[in-house]
Amino acid sequence: MLLMPDGQGQPTAIHRSDYQPPAWWIDTVELTFDLDPAKTRVLNKMRLRRNPEVAAQALRLDGEELNLSRVLVNGAGTSFKMDGSQLVLENLPEGPEPFDLEIFTTCAPDKNTQLMGLYVSQGTFFTQCEAEGFRRITYFLDRPDVMASYTVTLRADKASYPVLLSNGNLVEQGDLDAGRHFAKWHDPHKKPCYLFALVAGKLVARQQRILSRSGTEHLLEVYVRPGDLGKTEHAMNSLMASVAWDEARFGLPLDLERFMIVATSDFNMGAMENKGLNIFNTKYVLASEATATDTDFANIEAVVGHEYFHNWTGNRITCRDWFQLSLKEGLTVFRDQEFSMDMAGNPSARAVKRIEDVRVLRSAQFPEDAGPMAHPVRPDSYIEINNFYTVTIYEKGAEVVRMMHHLVGRDGFAQGMKLYFARHDGQAVTCDDFAQAIADANPGSALALQLEPFKRWYNQAGTPRVQASGLYDAETHRYTLTLRQSCPATPGQPHKEPFVIPVELGLLNHEGQALALQLEGEQTANGNSRTLVLDGAEQQWTFINVAQAPVPSLLRGFSAPVVLEVDYSDAELLTLLAHDSDAFNRWEAGQRLLLRRALQAITAPDDSQDASILDESLLQALGQVLRDPQLDAAFKELVLTLPSETYIAEQLEVVNPQRIHAVREAMRLQLALALHTDWQATYEAHQASGAYRPDAASAGRRALAGLALTMLCLGAQHGGDSIWPGKTLQRFKDAGNMTDRFNALAALVGCGHALAAPALERFHSWFKDDPLVLDKWFALQAGASDRAGHVLPLVKQLMAHPDFTIKNPNRARSLIFSYCNANPGAFHRADAAGYVFWSERVLELDAINPQVAARLARALDRWKKLAEPWRSSAREAIARVAARPDLSNDVREVITRALADE
Ligand code: TRP
Ligand code: ZN
Repeated sequence: MLLMPDGQGQPTAIHRSDYQPPAWWIDTVELTFDLDPAKTRVLNKMRLRRNPEVAAQALRLDGEELNLSRVLVNGAGTSFKMDGSQLVLENLPEGPEPFDLEIFTTCAPDKNTQLMGLYVSQGTFFTQCEAEGFRRITYFLDRPDVMASYTVTLRADKASYPVLLSNGNLVEQGDLDAGRHFAKWHDPHKKPCYLFALVAGKLVARQQRILSRSGTEHLLEVYVRPGDLGKTEHAMNSLMASVAWDEARFGLPLDLERFMIVATSDFNMGAMENKGLNIFNTKYVLASEATATDTDFANIEAVVGHEYFHNWTGNRITCRDWFQLSLKEGLTVFRDQEFSMDMAGNPSARAVKRIEDVRVLRSAQFPEDAGPMAHPVRPDSYIEINNFYTVTIYEKGAEVVRMMHHLVGRDGFAQGMKLYFARHDGQAVTCDDFAQAIADANPGSALALQLEPFKRWYNQAGTPRVQASGLYDAETHRYTLTLRQSCPATPGQPHKEPFVIPVELGLLNHEGQALALQLEGEQTANGNSRTLVLDGAEQQWTFINVAQAPVPSLLRGFSAPVVLEVDYSDAELLTLLAHDSDAFNRWEAGQRLLLRRALQAITAPDDSQDASILDESLLQALGQVLRDPQLDAAFKELVLTLPSETYIAEQLEVVNPQRIHAVREAMRLQLALALHTDWQATYEAHQASGAYRPDAASAGRRALAGLALTMLCLGAQHGGDSIWPGKTLQRFKDAGNMTDRFNALAALVGCGHALAAPALERFHSWFKDDPLVLDKWFALQAGASDRAGHVLPLVKQLMAHPDFTIKNPNRARSLIFSYCNANPGAFHRADAAGYVFWSERVLELDAINPQVAARLARALDRWKKLAEPWRSSAREAIARVAARPDLSNDVREVITRALADE
């Protein structure tokens, strides 16, 4: 995907400040496809007109890897030229009248390994057009602010491609000669070309008719390969729930007669929100209790929701340009997170979902925000837009929306959304437009009063740090809280202005009871929890009538995406862990204690104390959590799970990945041994009975039982007893669902027991025909805790396994990414062999699929933090990749940024 067609010169950066409205509008598009894997013919007939608001200029159409055969203007031949990969037309009709432009091209779907544009997967045609894939199908103004009305005719061999789908409504279908047939689709909504889609192949559908609140009927369909129909029930249920939820919570109904989801096993990302024809990675559609875990079920619900919610936030109102990507992604992630929480139900289950989301943010987005690829939620420039589908755009973007939600309240936010649609339905807009609508609907709110400074969240990269310190005056019963903020420099942004940071807080006494809150100047106390808005570098608040020195519970529910630094004593953290009414902060207190112990051990002069990193009081507190009958299983599982190695690494200036791994493993072993009796009781108490259901409560019980089993195996392996490994193997064999079966297998693999090998073999033979389960089999082995460097040789061996193929992104991710991106203890080898493996795979993948290669390239983003010898060998590996002259723009951008000295 070189910008320069001849591969020469430097790729050019695109800047947000260079935005110009399009010089031409495309009102209608009629596309006719003659589908053939080797050579598909595309006739593109457009109705164009000049944009009267922009100075007259040539029409420049984007195209990529197309064979052009004919160009007609109003039915007659015309002159044109090529400028790089753009088709340039200079002699077009003057004046404001619309005219027809017809372009004939061909492309080769079966040679398309990038999976962008039109490609073939297992004999079926699929498209992927976001962000700039439509230009690989035909010449077009491939930018989201050009919205057109589409009519699409598909023609193909009827036996090989019985199902022909595109966006909108089916208006006509029938047979053609020579065994071919056709289908004609019309999309009643104008859309940008990145939302175009077609699918053609041998597929079957689960169908469901539904009635909306207003009484209109809709047809929902989930298309899969013939053998997979039995695995579509959960996706369909999730889709029905999504439709109902968006109508109930935001008053946003389904605006189409027909809504289709199609699954493919070759897909670069999770799923795509094409209008009325969502295309999904099979991973986020197919599920049965025998083949999918609780996590898979939850992810399917979230992704089905996410793509469906895009129908309004993304499709009805789209992005003006790709710098505004978070306008749709941040908002839609926020919406899917809220959907999952509402589906989970009770406050405790909501908190579990919130903790899970924050864990992702901290272990993936915080490192991104501190590394060479750091960028604002609304970036200022990029080389390859595909590199900016990031956790910052998605997850941090969702946090920005969540803060707005917090500042205006739930009803205020709903009003804001209403105004957003009233103003902008059918338009391509900016993040400013969204923030303005939310603020304007809530005059007088903290958001409206601070809108300009609030929007620094869109413009400034980096994770802000908030330092909190409290001072209690026992004589006056006053408690003064000081909050200070700062933000580290990020590439191109050495200095930051203060952010507007909502800090929700409560105060506890030392017995853990909530104290009434009364700020200086207030007549009476008012509630036990409230939100302070930090908008300067440093601010103070004084609470009065505080009877005793309080323990502050700060940033409840993680009310802002910041690093909060507080000088808690261990005793204060234990109080919060045992009593905080805010479930998030209860979990957080436990994590702070565990992190504190880990950091003490990592920075200790030697490893002689590694067997006793956790002290008696902390172990007791954790045992109490495990035994507490009031707490949900899912919550317990989160409390008892140690901070990830990546998250621990982020706390350190200089990172020795092996030391982090060793300390974390030692802590796990200590937890396993010290709480042995509790783990045993926990495991016994959480045996599910009755039919499998993937709801949050039963999933939580299975997760906790799984953690208990892992701990029992770990402890047994250390103590040399074989009772628990034996029981685990039995569990593995008898399990009634994939969650229990996989957890048992993972427990055996995790402790390195001899029973793991035969279990893995058996698992493979059971599921050898199910690609998604095979992905789990590869991922488990590549992600296993490293023992004496065993993982890399195993990964190399698995690369040669008959079931491995690097061409399928899911399979590549399951083996290569699980090792390079998700297994730091095994990847960061002192002999640099992990890095050599990484550089080879980046190059190998880049020749096939640059988008996937660039994601792998990011595994060494944080190399500058590494201690020697890792740092030097990582730099060498990156430099080896950089030295290749033929890199894609995708990988080139990532590698160049990694090597830049900022
Ligand atoms: N817009 C999609 C989503 O977030 C994701 C997406 C962007 C994508 N680019 C893609 C999916 C390329 C597949 C391939 O829902
Ligand atoms: Zn999305």
